[in-house]
Amino acid sequence: MSASGAKNAALPLMFATLLAPGPHRLGNLPRLRDIRTAEQLLTGLGARVQSENGTLQVTTDALNGKEAPYDLVRTMRASVLVLGPLLARCGRARVSLPGGCAIGARPINLHLKGLEAMGAEITLDHGYVEARAKRLQGARIYLDTPTVGGTENLMMAATLAQGTTVIENAAREPEISDLAVALCGMGARIEGAGSDTIVIEGVDSLGGMDHQVMPDRIEAGTYLIAAALTGGRIKVNNARPEHMEALLSKLEEAGAECSVEEDGILVAGPREILPVNIKTQPHPGFPTDMQAQFMTLMTLCSGSSMITETVFENRFMHVCELQRMGADITIEGHTATIKGVPGLLGAPVMATDLRASACLVLAGLAADNTTEISRIYHLDRGYESLEEKFRSLGADIERVPTAS
Ligand code: UD1
Repeated sequence: MSASGAKNAALPLMFATLLAPGPHRLGNLPRLRDIRTAEQLLTGLGARVQSENGTLQVTTDALNGKEAPYDLVRTMRASVLVLGPLLARCGRARVSLPGGCAIGARPINLHLKGLEAMGAEITLDHGYVEARAKRLQGARIYLDTPTVGGTENLMMAATLAQGTTVIENAAREPEISDLAVALCGMGARIEGAGSDTIVIEGVDSLGGMDHQVMPDRIEAGTYLIAAALTGGRIKVNNARPEHMEALLSKLEEAGAECSVEEDGILVAGPREILPVNIKTQPHPGFPTDMQAQFMTLMTLCSGSSMITETVFENRFMHVCELQRMGADITIEGHTATIKGVPGLLGAPVMATDLRASACLVLAGLAADNTTEISRIYHLDRGYESLEEKFRSLGADIERVPTAS
């Protein structure tokens, strides 16, 4: 099986089309609800968007100066990534503040602080951030936390600034490098993306984008964990090992056999799942977006495992649901202690966020009896054709329409 295009790479890439009139061409987009939301947002800002077979053609020559409305930003926080590109290109942007979400407060203070350092005037009005700058000026920006979205927003804004911008303590996620490659293809001058210091030399204008979105490392990782959990063998054809080092090393520690092949990664599940401790961290540390799925694996380990979440303050909502399936988990502060049990029991459970819903699907695959997961709209935000892909691997899984 193959991983689809990465949602977390696709969204900033789509918003980067706001930096130049285009035409832009973006391929290997996953079919996901968040991608449709991003299309809607672009259209609302005056872009012309055509989507066919995973390829998007975008022109943004007729931007209308409208805002990124609360309704869209509320459903998809990544919408705040229109701020940097719009401000850089149009000298003004108005974007709703996203507010909190299920996994924590998730502020955008570092995005705003960075833009202010580049000379933007930022005001807050009725829950909207209004940013203005005749032309952004290059600046030296130190991020207190290596925020992924903040790094992307500032890197995009800096491409059209006057002078050089240096982002220090930048996030190093592979999606940032993918964005930088696409921006350089448009004529941007960026060095160091993927490291903790990114240097951007501003240019006067950019050309069209022509780019293929990188494969989704979180989706790929979810399938590899499924192999470890069920004692199966799964090969994810286009998975890139250099994006998944922390996960692969933890899967091996848990007893799985991971083989990096020329065209992908193969994982064979262990007979006995060994206990492993993990601590989520910014890339290249263990990704917070894999924490819930890895916890499902640990529910069946032969001992006791500790999982510490350091990126988001409230990302253990899946624990109560796993407990309903017989998992033995206790939480103290930011650490969950998981005592392995011999088996999980199917139960009706509820998805609380995107990655939590994936962890419940994994639990359902390993559990006796039937597991019924509700609120799977969370899943549709980030996993393309999940049930079909799992079915093709031999899982007994179906989507049941519910009366709405
Ligand atoms: C992105 C990913 C998300 C992933 C997360 C961390 C996308 C679309 N989403 O989210 O799937 O879980 O990275 O890998 O790519 N923070 C601040 N101030 C800010 C910005 C962030 O304090 O201005 C804090 C957040 O509250 C959080 C931490 O920094 O505790 C990391 O957040 P960030 O890296 O910004 O995550 P996102 O870009 O929102």
